[in-house]
Amino acid sequence: MKALILSGGKGTRLRPLTYTGAKQLVPVANKPILWYGIEEMVAAGITDIGIVINPETGEEVQAKTGNGDRFGANITYILQHTPAGLAHAVKVALPFLGESPFVMYLGDNLIQQGDLSYFLRKFSAQEQDALILLRTVENPSAFGVARVDETGRVLELIEKPVIPPSNLALVGVYFFSPVIHTAIANIQPSARGELEITDAIQYLINQQQQVTACQLEGWWLDTGKKDDLLEANRLILDTYLVSSPNSQQVYQNSQIAGRVQIGSHSQVINSTIRGPVIIGDNCYLENCFIGPYTSIGNHVELIESDIEHSVVLENAKISGIRQRIIDSVIGQRAKLTLAEHRPQAFRFLIGDDCHIELM
Ligand code: TTP
Repeated sequence: MKALILSGGKGTRLRPLTYTGAKQLVPVANKPILWYGIEEMVAAGITDIGIVINPETGEEVQAKTGNGDRFGANITYILQHTPAGLAHAVKVALPFLGESPFVMYLGDNLIQQGDLSYFLRKFSAQEQDALILLRTVENPSAFGVARVDETGRVLELIEKPVIPPSNLALVGVYFFSPVIHTAIANIQPSARGELEITDAIQYLINQQQQVTACQLEGWWLDTGKKDDLLEANRLILDTYLVSSPNSQQVYQNSQIAGRVQIGSHSQVINSTIRGPVIIGDNCYLENCFIGPYTSIGNHVELIESDIEHSVVLENAKISGIRQRIIDSVIGQRAKLTLAEHRPQAFRFLIGDDCHIELM
């Protein structure tokens, strides 16, 4: 069994962060999203992992993630020159996949830890051509949706249906036998110009191949949008964060309550931190309130600021902001300050595709 993790794509929904980096490397609880997927594979016993990368961010993904040693895995990088669809990514990965069955996992998705082993056992136990995971959602029209019979056999897949036949959306985890390659060779690009994995699975269904579905009960998040990224951050901090005492930080006159992890050489002065909160290495916090569900990357400086339910990336600087910052993602090296001189006004240097909400 091999794994194929997709870490290419365009990342338009997470601009501007994706102008300068891969969305799969954006941290959730200070760990790149992609790494959760890799760890999930290894925990399920799959160590032969291919990662699909694109020409823009591939080098960064490779440099940061490495050859797999840190995960106990063997990682092969596969370059997809254009983001021509999920099925196109599988096509490009054919030399790596060969005749092996494999699990395909979208590198910007997160599923509750531990669930993958269960589905892998199900897939391996029965002679199946494809096993797809489904999750009930409130707005099925926004997803690929499956029509399934009472035995779990998939009858039809419909991309973003106007009248959804069920509320079961396709989760970004798929198990395939090598027969999927024949299906992909037989499909055409969709109206948006991509080779769609749903079309390849539909081809299998039409050819009377065994395609079954399992329902995921745990959580699943597609972190490709800001609010889902924040929700993933909340869930991971809520579920897995433990306080870790570390002698290499400095606290002065500060209150720390709940589960809080603070990295080495970070200083917390005259501040209140209310967990779950994770703070990276070499940060400087003075006169701040850090509220629940906040992740702060390495080398961040926060002065006279209140922040909660947010993700702050490495080397950002925030100072003197009088209003509390909530539900925010602050990019690497971003600066947010209060001007000292008049006229009292907002002064911006905002990159393309930024989202700013003022009250
Ligand atoms: P998507 O989030 O569906 O697509 P995208 O990355 O192009 O993002 P957006 O819609 O915001 O523009 O992709 C799901 C995952 O699959 C993600 O990790 C990127 C990856 N992917 C590839 O590796 N190759 C591809 O051709 C596509 C379309 C996606």
